[in-house]
Amino acid sequence: MLSSRLNIARDDGLLPLTARWIVFGARADDDLSALGADLQVVQGFFPDVAALRARGHDVVTEPSGAFDAALVVLPRAKAAARDLIAQAVVQCGTVWIDGQKTDGADGLIRDLRSRGTVSSVIAKAHGKLFAFTGADLSDWRAEATRHGDGAITLPGVFSADGPDRASVLLASFLPPKMPGVVVDLGAGWGYLAREILQREGVTACHLVEADHAALTCARTNVTDERAQFHWADALSFALPGGADHVVTNPPFHIARAADPGLGRDFIVAAARLLKPQGKLWLVANRHLPYETALTESFSKVTLLSDDPAFKVVQAERPLRQSNRPSNRTARTSR
Ligand SMILES: C[S@@+](CC[C@H](N)C(=O)[O-])C[C@H]1O[C@@H](n2cnc3c(N)ncnc32)[C@H](O)[C@@H]1O
Repeated sequence: MLSSRLNIARDDGLLPLTARWIVFGARADDDLSALGADLQVVQGFFPDVAALRARGHDVVTEPSGAFDAALVVLPRAKAAARDLIAQAVVQCGTVWIDGQKTDGADGLIRDLRSRGTVSSVIAKAHGKLFAFTGADLSDWRAEATRHGDGAITLPGVFSADGPDRASVLLASFLPPKMPGVVVDLGAGWGYLAREILQREGVTACHLVEADHAALTCARTNVTDERAQFHWADALSFALPGGADHVVTNPPFHIARAADPGLGRDFIVAAARLLKPQGKLWLVANRHLPYETALTESFSKVTLLSDDPAFKVVQAERPLRQSNRPSNRTARTSR
């Protein structure tokens, strides 16, 4: 756990006691109390932002102000981790870096040793904490990739290498006419929204996405004026008037572990967002157990695809009990 390593560093007198800290990438349940009260967190994942703000932290998507000390909590994607470290080095010459071994902490230590000085490493609870002092790492800043279809992606966003296979399959099952208001729930960089907006009759397409970087890409990728962008948690997002269609390839990972509960929460959220005659269009890995959530939330569920890897489902007539706001707390997943 981050806090156990930070506590060791603090108790050993390694952390500056009166510093104003900037913390990149802290998540909902990270305990930052070892750093003192004067800190700003840079985080772009909406459920983490909401949870950290609820605990009283100052949370922003871009750093603002001057800082004496920096901490980077490693994200999963290597390029995204490098980007945060490069940003932190600009803020403060010395940067503390914390990550689980599964987040590539060991490889990063090796890479950083060739770019500056790495302190002794505090290893505890399958993770590592160390300080790096070095020069400019601007070559580690994340750059957008432009794909053949003109879309841009940033490192760390879902399917940064191009359209996801499951989403492409789902798009092939969307009907030529989708009259009315459509919600793209967990919209990523906008692949499905671009497909949706090519269907006849769409009056508005709401892209709901928790990852700020992904939504930033979507704003560039989806230029149709019927698109509306919402940096929000899909589980609590509300749409006055309701939707005629919800299209989703729901997330199913928390950190590295599969969590079908998140996909089930997306199904409940979709039922809540839809008008009584509205339809859900969903794709999921075939093994994910969504059937109960679908039949509990919709009167009619139709399996559209028998692809060996993915199931494409259309669900109609959302059930009354689903038309209540979800009372589950947001899961911190990407
Ligand atoms: C499997 S991806 C699909 C992305 C996109 N629709 C596509 O097809 O490429 C799921 C998306 O849901 C987003 N997500 C995860 N949890 C979320 C939440 N609580 N609220 C909104 N979006 C969320 C992820 O950041 C990710 O972009």
